[in-house]
Amino acid sequence: MRMQILGIETSCDETGIAVYHSERGVLGHAVYAQLELHNRYGGVVPELASRDQIRKTTPMIRQLLSDLNLNLQDINGIAYTVGPGLAGALMVGATIGRSLAYALNIPGIGVHHMEAHLLAPMLEDPAPQFPFLSLVVSGGHTMLVRVDGLGQYKTLGESLDDAAGEAFDKTAKLLGFDYPGGPQIAKAALKGELNRFIFPRPMVDRPGLDFSYSGLKTFAANTFYKHPNDPQAIADIALAFEEAVIDSLMIKCKRAIKETQLNQLVMAGGVTANLKLRQRMDEYAKSSDVRVFFPRPEFCTDNGAMVAYAGCQRLMRGERDSLEIKIRPRWPLEEV
Ligand code: KG4
Ligand code: ZN
Repeated sequence: MRMQILGIETSCDETGIAVYHSERGVLGHAVYAQLELHNRYGGVVPELASRDQIRKTTPMIRQLLSDLNLNLQDINGIAYTVGPGLAGALMVGATIGRSLAYALNIPGIGVHHMEAHLLAPMLEDPAPQFPFLSLVVSGGHTMLVRVDGLGQYKTLGESLDDAAGEAFDKTAKLLGFDYPGGPQIAKAALKGELNRFIFPRPMVDRPGLDFSYSGLKTFAANTFYKHPNDPQAIADIALAFEEAVIDSLMIKCKRAIKETQLNQLVMAGGVTANLKLRQRMDEYAKSSDVRVFFPRPEFCTDNGAMVAYAGCQRLMRGERDSLEIKIRPRWPLEEV
């Protein structure tokens, strides 16, 4: 059965809209990021996020369909993120998606945001084959997941405190950078002097596959306050912090590969847009028999294409949501 799916992502501060065709792939997508809106607060303000989702979602759907020369009648299914995420923001996409599906008399399906991230590398060529190991690193999650098939997820390890992206954002704020901080830290780190500061590699001495990033953030703060009036220290801290996060991610991934004996490692989530992390993973792939897969950078951060893809897989299996508009702001991956 051929399907053309409209995907709607509104779980946080990005509005992502896409059309995915089950045989031709992503036909088009658009993302609007509410950067300026939250900048002055140093983080996402939930109420502002949901109000902006209301303003953007419907016009963006109209615009994308018109850009693709499609009508709503050309769509045979709608996928919308229903969790995890900010309740108000989720409610916008879920309400619009569910109502559109009802009005058009086509199936609608609520998608798990992290499942969508996990499956995003499937949009690339070559795509990984099940089973694989997935490292999901975003602003809300840091987790290692064994993926045996659609809906067959086992969390092997996760952050016990802050997510890696969250630590990037908080450290960036401390150093005086705008939100989101990941790209700014990466940029500042380019001017940093390697090994002037050496940050700890959290959790690597302990067995297991869990992560911890709140200590690194504190370490960055202490180093920062010890070096006032030293502009170079900002770049050096950015570099030391980035190195510590990447090292800890690499160490845990290698450990997980060894424990699971899987030979495909898939990366997903916003932090995967980090070039140094991608380079380090590429080097690892070259020096081992592990194959590493990344989504293209625009599909690493929140987007509608990954939601359309995940929804399409579920709709093709015959799954459908009832008419009720139901969101799940907290939704463990294993319960998908
Ligand atoms: O997946 P995502 O767009 O949203 C969530 O679901 O959280 O991830 C956003 C996170 C932010 O914390 C941002 O700082 C981080 O990804 N990020 C980066 C980079 N680009 C985005 N972190 C490090 N380096 C980057 N280049
Ligand atoms: Zn995300």
